[in-house]
Amino acid sequence: RAEDGYRLWLRYDLIQDADLRTAYQQQLGQLHVGTNVDTTREMMAVSLRELRNGLRGLLGIHLAPAAGAPGKGSGLALRRLAAGEIGPEGYRLRQQGNRLELAASDDRGFLYGTFHLLRMLQMGESLRGLDVEEVPAKDIRILNHWDNLDGTVERGYAGFSIFNWHTLPDVLDPRYTDYARACASVGINGSVVTNVNANALIFRDDYLEKAAALADVFRPYGVKIYLTARFSAPMELGGLSTADPLDPEVKEWWAAKAKAIYSRIPDFGGFVVKANSEGQPGPREYGRSHAQGANLLADALAPYGGIVMWRAFVYNSDPEADRAAQAYEEFVPLDGQFRDNVVVQVKNGPIDFQPREPFSPLFGATPETPLLLELQITKEYLGQGTHLVGLAPLFAEVLQADTHQGGAGTTVASTVTGLAGVSNVGTARNWTGHPFGQADWYAFGRLAWEPALDPTAIYDEWAALTYGADEAVRKTISRMLVDSWEICVNYMTPLGLHHLMATGHHYGPGPWVDELSRPEWNPAYYHRADSAGIGFDRTLTGSNAVAQYAPAVREKFADPRTCPPEYLLWFHHLPWDWRMDNGKTLWEELCLRYQAGVEGTEWLAAEWASLEGQVDAERHREVSQYLTIQQREAEWWKNACLAYFQTHSRRPFPEGVEAPP
Ligand code: GCU
Repeated sequence: RAEDGYRLWLRYDLIQDADLRTAYQQQLGQLHVGTNVDTTREMMAVSLRELRNGLRGLLGIHLAPAAGAPGKGSGLALRRLAAGEIGPEGYRLRQQGNRLELAASDDRGFLYGTFHLLRMLQMGESLRGLDVEEVPAKDIRILNHWDNLDGTVERGYAGFSIFNWHTLPDVLDPRYTDYARACASVGINGSVVTNVNANALIFRDDYLEKAAALADVFRPYGVKIYLTARFSAPMELGGLSTADPLDPEVKEWWAAKAKAIYSRIPDFGGFVVKANSEGQPGPREYGRSHAQGANLLADALAPYGGIVMWRAFVYNSDPEADRAAQAYEEFVPLDGQFRDNVVVQVKNGPIDFQPREPFSPLFGATPETPLLLELQITKEYLGQGTHLVGLAPLFAEVLQADTHQGGAGTTVASTVTGLAGVSNVGTARNWTGHPFGQADWYAFGRLAWEPALDPTAIYDEWAALTYGADEAVRKTISRMLVDSWEICVNYMTPLGLHHLMATGHHYGPGPWVDELSRPEWNPAYYHRADSAGIGFDRTLTGSNAVAQYAPAVREKFADPRTCPPEYLLWFHHLPWDWRMDNGKTLWEELCLRYQAGVEGTEWLAAEWASLEGQVDAERHREVSQYLTIQQREAEWWKNACLAYFQTHSRRPFPEGVEAPP
C-alpha cells in the first residue's frame, strides 16, 4: 500500500457506486474535440493523457474519440475560446445540451479544467447542470525548494531532494513528471528548484543543462522553472573581482549568463534572490541598495521576459533594533525604484514563519512595487516532520488580514501578485514524510489559485481525494487539520509569543536560551519574561514597530485592550496579573492555553483512533505513530515553557493545569 502515499491526491480508483459510474460514463464516454483545438500540442496531449488515465481508473472506460458525424451525440466536448473570452489559464466546465463542455483559451486552461473535472468525479459530485468558470486570482503560484545541489534540503523533513543533480540530465526520474503533475493538478505554475541560500555552481554550463532537462519535463505540465541567484556568482564563477551591481563587467556577466540560460530554457521564469540576509552576499557590500541589486538582475532577464523575486527577509544583528521592523524600514523607502520585472517577496509575518504572526506591515505599503507573499509549507517551526498541523488556516488568516492600506477591506490577498510556498517535498516515498503534509502542498496550490477558499472546504476536498469520499471520514479529517493549527500554537507559542524554539534546528522548546552571539536569535530576546511580566513591547514605549501598520490596524494592535489575544504578547509586555477579557490573569491564561494545546493533541489522537477500520491500516498506523510523538512533545513544550516562565512569574499553576513534573 506504500503506493497509496506516492499517488498523493491523484488516486483514480474505480468508483464503487455503479449508478454513479454509469451516469458518468454516459456523460463523458465520448470525446468531441472542437476543430480549433490542437491536441498535438505538448500540453494538450498531457491533458488528454490525464483524462484518459483518470477515466480509465475511475470509470473503467477507454475514452473514445466520438464516432459518426461530428457535432452529434453526448460526451465530453473540448472547445477553444478566443483570447479575452476568458482570462489566461482559466476554464469553463458547462453542461451544454447532452454534452459537458470544457472550454479554455489557452493550453493551461484545458489542463487545469481537466484536473477539476477529475476531482469532481473522485468526490462523486454531480455533473448535471454543471456551470463553473474558474480563473486563477494570482498569476504567480510557485513553489520554492530549499534544495541544495548536494541533495540535502534545508528545513526539509521528508528525506532528500527529489532533484538529483548528479544523474541529471541523462536520468529523468519519473518522480520529476509526477511532481509536475501534482503541481499542475492544484494550479501551481512555477518551481524554484534551488535553495535561497544559493550555490553559484547552478550557473555553470553543465548544471544549466541539468536544469534544462528538468524544465523540459515540467513544461508540458505548465510548471515554469526558476533558479536562485547567488549575488556573488560573477566572482565565484566568473572570476571577476567584484559583484558590484553598477560595475559594467558585472552587468555584462549577468547579461551573458541570462543569454546562456535562455538558449537552453526559452521559457525560463527568472531568479529568486536572498541578498544581504543571514550572511548571504548582496549589493549592500558595495554600498548599493536592494533596488540596485535587484535591477541588475532584472535588466539581464528583461530581454527574455524573466522576472526577479527579490526577498525582503533581511535583519541585522543589532541588540537595539527590533528585528520585526527591519524589512519594512529597508524596503518601503525603495518603493518606486525597482524595475517593472522585479517583485519583492515578503514572508507572511515580520519575523520568520513562526507558528503565528501578525501579517507583515509591508503588505500594501509599497504601492509601486508588486509583492509576492511567501509562505512556508514545510513546518520548520511547527513540529517539522512529525506533528500533524494543518497550515491552511494560517495561510488563510494572513491572506484575509485587512491591511487597511488604501482603505478598509484591503486584504493581504488583494495586495499581492502571487504566492510562493516553501516546499515540504522530498524523497520520502509519500513525498512529505508525514502523510498529512501532503494536505498543505495541496492547500497551498488551491489558495494560490483562489485565496478566498475556506480551509475547511480545501481539507474536505483533500481528505475525500486522499482517503475516500466517505462523509464521516472526510469531515473528521478536515476538522482535525483545521483545528490542529490552533492546537499547535497553544502548546508552542500561545498569546503572540514567538521564537521560543531551541537553537539552530528549531525543534522543541528553548525559551531559556539567552546567550547566543546574535542577540536576535535568542528566544529571550522575543519573550522578554521578567519578574514584572512577559511579552515584546512594540508600542511607543518599546520598539514602536506597530507604527508601521496603517492607522486603523496600528490603533487596534497598539492598545492591549483591543489587540486580538492571539497577538497580545507580540505587541505588548504585560504584567503577570494583567486581566484578560475573560477575567483570568495573564499568567493563568498562558498556563491554560498550554494545557489546551496538550489536550488538543489528545483530541487529535482520539479522532484519528475513531477512524480505525475506515482508513487503510497502513496509513492509519503511520499517522497514529506520529500522533503519539506529537502528544508527548506537546507535553514537553508545555512543561518546559511553563516551568521556565514560572521562574519569572513566581505564581502557582491555576486549577485545571497539570504542573510540570
Ligand atoms: C529561516 C530558516 C533558514 C532560511 C531562512 C530564509 O531563517 O531557518 O534556514 O534560510 O529562513 O528564509 O532565508
